[in-house]
Amino acid sequence: MGSKKEIIFFTTNKNKVKEIKDLADSEAKNITIVHREYDYPELQLEEIEAVAKESANYIKKKVAIKKPFFIEDSGLFIHALNGFPGPFSAFVFNKIGNEGILKLMADKEGEERRASFKTVVAFCESFEKEPILFVGTAEGKIAEKVRGEGGFGYDPIFEFEGKTFAERNTDEKNRVSHRGRAFMKLLNYIS
Ligand code: IMP
Repeated sequence: MGSKKEIIFFTTNKNKVKEIKDLADSEAKNITIVHREYDYPELQLEEIEAVAKESANYIKKKVAIKKPFFIEDSGLFIHALNGFPGPFSAFVFNKIGNEGILKLMADKEGEERRASFKTVVAFCESFEKEPILFVGTAEGKIAEKVRGEGGFGYDPIFEFEGKTFAERNTDEKNRVSHRGRAFMKLLNYIS
């Protein structure tokens, strides 16, 4: 048996770590995800692809470890609000939370409640190379009210096939989520 390949995941979000470690444990026996708690400044750019790329480049400059690593940036895009909060999802969540989003959506019905989640994983194979991006999306809708105890962030208001993400366990969420899809692309690339 060959030795396991270690890949570092820089983030301060323990929920993201759990989701990604669970997925790697079940889908990629030869890969170990090593979490590094690291709070990098997140640029407020219009595209989360650009945010993820700049964050990876920032870590390359600031951190002295010469191992493969990745970061990820995610956002919720509500169609009827022209993609809001999108790249500003963290700021908006901290300011108005799920109840605030539900208020903004109060007069929206049916198809008007469509929304998507997007994750961009930026992977640096070595500190000399440019980040490679892997994108995953999940299409769903904004629920009428918060539902479910699991997950984090916008999960209680993001509904997919009748259940919110907060009504799924980690494994169920991973199978259909933006993060699961983006991370599976990274795993396929590595193996
Ligand atoms: P960031 O990727 O950490 O910048 O996340 C942006 C915002 O979206 C934060 O408020 C997160 O809590 C939220 N968020 C990120 N990923 C998810 C998810 O998988 N489900 C629900 N909310 C998420």
